[in-house]
Amino acid sequence: MKFFADTAEIVAIKELAATGLLDGVTTNPSLIAKSGRDFMEVTKEICGLTDGPVSAEVVALDHPTMMKEAEKLRAIADNVCIKVPLTIDGLKTCKALTGDGTMVNVTLCFSANQALLAAKAGATFVSPFVGRHDDNGFDGMDLIADIRRIYDNYAFSTEILVASVRHATHILESAKIGADVATAPPKVIMGLANHVLTDKGIEGFLKDWEATGQSIL
Ligand code: G3P
Repeated sequence: MKFFADTAEIVAIKELAATGLLDGVTTNPSLIAKSGRDFMEVTKEICGLTDGPVSAEVVALDHPTMMKEAEKLRAIADNVCIKVPLTIDGLKTCKALTGDGTMVNVTLCFSANQALLAAKAGATFVSPFVGRHDDNGFDGMDLIADIRRIYDNYAFSTEILVASVRHATHILESAKIGADVATAPPKVIMGLANHVLTDKGIEGFLKDWEATGQSIL
C-alpha cells in the first residue's frame, strides 16, 4: 500500500519524506487555505519534496475552465496529478487529460457507481472519502470493498486512493481490503509505528543492556 500525505504543510511533508515512507501528496482547496500559502508556489515546493504524484485540485465547475486550470497546474512539475471532482464535467476533464498522459485523481467519491464512472473515464486514482462517509451514517469500508470488487471484476487499472482518513483503523481496514493508496495527515501515518508493547519492550531491553556494562560503539 502506498502512503500519500494529505496536507499542504511543508514541514510535515518533509518529516514524513525523511522516513522514506512517503509515496506522494494530496492537497485540496481547504488544505491550501489552511497552509496560508500561494497555491502555485506551495504546490511547486511540494512537488520538489517527492518523486510521487502531487494532487492539485481545480476549482472550476465546467469542463472548458477545468481544462484551462489543469493546463496551468500541470505546467508546475512533471509529478503534478490533476484533481477533479466527481461530476460529469470532472469526468470529461479526466478523460481528456488522461488521454494525453496526464495523471488525474477523481475526488469526492461517495458511491461505488461513481467510482465505476471514474475508472471508465480513465482516472489514475479515485478518491473515496471514508471519514466523511462514516460521518454521515454509512460505512466507509463497505464503499472501499465494493469499489475493489468492481475494479477487480473488470481489471480496471484505476488505483483506489482512500481519502478522508482519520485514524489507524481506516488504514488497517483499507489495507486488508486491498486499496492501493491511503492518503492521511502525516501524524496518522507516523502514528502507525506506535505500540505500547514496543515501548515497553525497548525499556526492558535497555535496562538489561545497561546492567551488562557493555557498549556497541
Ligand atoms: O483527502 C481528502 C481529505 O482531505 C478530506 O478529509 O478529514 O476533511 O474529510 P476530511
